[in-house]
Amino acid sequence: MGPKEIQAGVFSVGAIDWDRRIFDELIPLPDGTSYNSYLVRGSTGIALIDTVDPTKEGELLSHLDELKVDRIDYLISNHAEQDHSGVIPRILSRYPSAQVVTTPRGKDLLRPLLHIPDEKITAVQDRETLSLGDRTLEFIHAPWVHWPETMLTYLREERILFTCDLFGSHYATGDPAVGDLGRVYWAAKRYYAEIMMPFRGLIQGHLEKIRPLPLDIIAPSHGPVYRKPEQILSAYRDWVSDSVKNEVIIPYVSMHHSTAVMVSHLVKALTDRGIVAIPFNLTVTDIGELAMALVDAATVIIGTPTVLTGPHPSAIYATYLVKLLKPKAKACGVIGSYGWGGKTVKEITGILQGLPVEFLDPVLVKGLPEAEDLKALDKLADTIAEKHRSYGIL
Ligand code: FEO
Repeated sequence: MGPKEIQAGVFSVGAIDWDRRIFDELIPLPDGTSYNSYLVRGSTGIALIDTVDPTKEGELLSHLDELKVDRIDYLISNHAEQDHSGVIPRILSRYPSAQVVTTPRGKDLLRPLLHIPDEKITAVQDRETLSLGDRTLEFIHAPWVHWPETMLTYLREERILFTCDLFGSHYATGDPAVGDLGRVYWAAKRYYAEIMMPFRGLIQGHLEKIRPLPLDIIAPSHGPVYRKPEQILSAYRDWVSDSVKNEVIIPYVSMHHSTAVMVSHLVKALTDRGIVAIPFNLTVTDIGELAMALVDAATVIIGTPTVLTGPHPSAIYATYLVKLLKPKAKACGVIGSYGWGGKTVKEITGILQGLPVEFLDPVLVKGLPEAEDLKALDKLADTIAEKHRSYGIL
């Protein structure tokens, strides 16, 4: 695509990965992604902020060639994960006078991950600044978005905040800036759900920390930049808030349709009570869609048959995902069918132990549900409605 000037003397020089479909061998990327790297030219110093995934090294280097960059003084590493740091060694060999700038914890990670010598890395403290002559970079520590070493870099004079993963979106687009939030909203929400949600409480603090900064542009390292920062800031404030929505999500799997009958009945019962109920059939669900739904839902009900003595492995996977992503849901439950017993409820609730949720009474049915079993699901729907009323959302 070539480098793009996002502000006078500030260039986006990273790479778009149109074809990538999975990240960390876990996260689906239906819209591809980008690895954004930014070049800032100051009157006395030149900084490169983050690099790209090693698979896209050639694109970064060719963009630097196109801009005739013959010197880089500072290589700012906001985040040590390799999709942003992986080309640092190549940049250092090409521009040997460059110094890597990162947090103290970033230094601890860059050494083992990329074998960068200690003397090439300068660790900066929170709010430390670096002059590029007529431009100033301010480093803002923002740990755990989503690794412990992360920081943001603020270009004071241009009021640009380089946020690396924070506010990012796995969204390959030829448009370097967000216009109408539209599809980018969903890509950013998916990204938040999959990457940032477990650190919701810390991100609340980071949003407060950057609130006083005058901002003209937010430039993340995945997806397009925001020329109206409030678009993504207000979305994040909503996602990280403690408020839940009147939604029940039901990740489920069914082998002989009995659990599916139960899910279908519960969805209708909840809908009849004014609650938004969203089933996710785990045999076809995009895990990112499930993660996105977890951002807002007040209640999660796992639907699973009993396989031999416990939950279906797909249900265990989904439950474990819920545990990892730490959504703000307030209540959880289990429904499903079994043949001859087992420890399904114990195993599901065991996985979820530690989440601050209330466990609702399970509804487990032997075989295909009968009228009495469906009444038990109606009772569960009543209980959920009561809970949602108590949360003030119904
Ligand atoms: Fe985009 Fe955490 O790396």
